[in-house]
Amino acid sequence: MKKIGVAILGLGVVGGGAYKILTEHREFYKKNHNLDISVEGVIERNRERALSLGIEESKIASNIAEICSNSEIDIVVETLGGIEPAKSYVLASLNSGKSVVTSNKELYCKYSHELEAVAKKNGCGLYFEATCVGGVPVIRTLLDSLQGNKISSLTGIINGTTNYILTKMTDCGASYEDVLKEAQKLGYAEANPTSDVEGFDAVYKLSILSSISFHTKIPYTEIYREGITGVDPADIRCGKQLGYVMKLLAIGKSGENGIEVRVHPAFVKSSHPLASVNDSYNAVYLTGDGVEDVMLYGRGAGALPTGSAIVADIIYCATHQGDNYSTFKNTEKAAPNTKFIKNFESQYYLRLSVKDKTGTLSKIMSQFSKHGIGISEVMQEKAADGKVPLMLLTHTTFENEVKKLVEEINASKEAAEVLSVIRVVS
Ligand code: HSE
Repeated sequence: MKKIGVAILGLGVVGGGAYKILTEHREFYKKNHNLDISVEGVIERNRERALSLGIEESKIASNIAEICSNSEIDIVVETLGGIEPAKSYVLASLNSGKSVVTSNKELYCKYSHELEAVAKKNGCGLYFEATCVGGVPVIRTLLDSLQGNKISSLTGIINGTTNYILTKMTDCGASYEDVLKEAQKLGYAEANPTSDVEGFDAVYKLSILSSISFHTKIPYTEIYREGITGVDPADIRCGKQLGYVMKLLAIGKSGENGIEVRVHPAFVKSSHPLASVNDSYNAVYLTGDGVEDVMLYGRGAGALPTGSAIVADIIYCATHQGDNYSTFKNTEKAAPNTKFIKNFESQYYLRLSVKDKTGTLSKIMSQFSKHGIGISEVMQEKAADGKVPLMLLTHTTFENEVKKLVEEINASKEAAEVLSVIRVVS
């Protein structure tokens, strides 16, 4: 039987979940994997919390040096989150010859090049399944099961908090602010929700997922980002009538013209598999040249789902000889000559408030046509106070043309005002 000693840095929700799985399944792993995995050390500021989980006093380390010098420890699990002290602890662990398993998406997204170089130098493993989409096994799927494919696109609902908020706004017609308050009360949203609702969390995850999908570093700074704070329930309601559901999507595409990476709210056709991913569930829809379409669905956060990803990495690390580093030269920037497409193509939904006056509609239509933007569907609601709510769906067009059109209409406000613009994923 192979003995594996583990240290856990940070016993919050994720670290605590990993500890629970490891201790409750210890006999199961002995029997089925021929591995005796024991937790030999922890770092946790809240001593009481560590003790309440059943961790012996002697296993609570006062600093990272104690973990690094403990020869019983083979693998260090980092579940602290944030950049410091997580980064220093991970580097110290790797430099002392220990493999690292991390759930820290921000750290891995921003510094994987640096961490991987140190892991390689020391012949250690660096595993990160838990950084993206919690219990949904998307990283190993991309690295192993789909490695024979050229991945051309990934579209994901990779943030549970925003998916929960948008689902409730869709179901109840409530405002963003009201649903957020409710979500915070129920523990679905953090007291400071910025990272989730402004799309940063999804950007970090998309950077990691698109880097391994497209075999080059996709710096998070290249990803277009828009959160859900400006989402108006009126658009969710109108989208529903047109057959669409609103989701915060993370989109990565790789083609002959370059790479496109973006996070923003979007309308998804209600028949699309991603449209039925509701509440705090996550899903990633992948397209490969051999496999065609694959969708992975499940819990993207939480103690046991994310703990499950961590334990999978521990077992993978303990049972694989070679260490699986990136397939590409992992540098801070994308490979030379990588082109990022900023003026991407999409269909668009626009909601306008149009003056209820003869000739205004034809004026607006001529502005669309001037920018080469075709209209595929129009929906009009009853006029009120001399204004008509008008919803338009465009044919596929360029982002920059839509921006110019909106600027032009809103500059004069003579015939109409554009109230919302939402990209549509067909
Ligand atoms: N805050 C994240 C979410 C979970 O809401 O999906 C951890 O990545």
